[in-house]
Amino acid sequence: MAERLKGKKAIITGASNGIGRASAILFAREGANLILADINEAGLGQVQEEINGMGGNVFIRKTDVSSEEEIKALINLGLEKFTDIDILVNNAGISGGLDVLEEQRLDEWQRIYEINVLGPVYATKHIIAHMKERRKGSIINIASVAGIMSGAGGNAYSASKAALINFTKTSACEVGSYNVRINAICPGLIETGMTQPFFEWARSAGKENQLGKYCELKRAAHPEEVAGAIVFLASDEASYITGQAIAVDGGITASMSVPGRKI
Ligand SMILES: NC(=O)c1ccc[n+]([C@@H]2O[C@H](COP(=O)([O-])OP(=O)(O)OC[C@H]3O[C@@H](n4cnc5c(N)ncnc54)[C@H](O)[C@@H]3O)[C@@H](O)[C@H]2O)c1
Repeated sequence: MAERLKGKKAIITGASNGIGRASAILFAREGANLILADINEAGLGQVQEEINGMGGNVFIRKTDVSSEEEIKALINLGLEKFTDIDILVNNAGISGGLDVLEEQRLDEWQRIYEINVLGPVYATKHIIAHMKERRKGSIINIASVAGIMSGAGGNAYSASKAALINFTKTSACEVGSYNVRINAICPGLIETGMTQPFFEWARSAGKENQLGKYCELKRAAHPEEVAGAIVFLASDEASYITGQAIAVDGGITASMSVPGRKI
């Protein structure tokens, strides 16, 4: 293994499951030292055990990313343990908000925004002075194809991911001259905790082979395939990439689905 993150220190949120968990394991394999956060403490413990078994260096902290105080404490833990932080992955997120327009609920919009938008805003706010001072840092926000086009999530979820993509661009432009890079990844359909009910329903209905069929690669993806792109953006290989929202979606946002034109 090339150890593309050798000696780097990273914080990953939502690391107990899915894309966050796969990223934590790949980051460790690539030589990164880790601070992992999630509301699911038991899940964090399992990931820590797995990474310790690989000989990795990892600390965990139960954190609700919608709490600015908890985010502050998480970042302080990172600075206390490692002195420096090179990489922040704002991955924790929730879906929901699938109701029709007439039934949209303020509490649901608020909860989705608190986690999907304000979580990354708080984490960026509290790490950015450190990164600017060092003139070094990479922040990766996990958005979604739902933030680019309709059809991949409810109104509140899609709007939250569009907000996160725009925050990625505005914040990247603010700190680019300090050599701090900020990018977003927009996953398509990935089999994780978030999408598990959908996959289970499709399997039980014998429709598994239809999952992901609307993207160009004609399949859904595994979380490890997103983790690979996150490692790339975190690494020095991406040293000239900032302010971008990169789709990892099997090509679904590359083409319109015009009836009769596609097979
Ligand atoms: N799975 C997909 O198809 C897909 C597609 C596009 C984008 N995404 C995005 O990828 C990211 C990761 O999701 P996933 O698919 O791996 O789902 P997942 O449910 O498997 O993992 C999400 C993790 O975030 C944690 N989390 C939830 N709320 C939290 C909070 N308030 N504070 C801290 N941690 C919290 C959960 O406990 C869980 O471990 C999310 O931002 C999601 O929106 C997923």
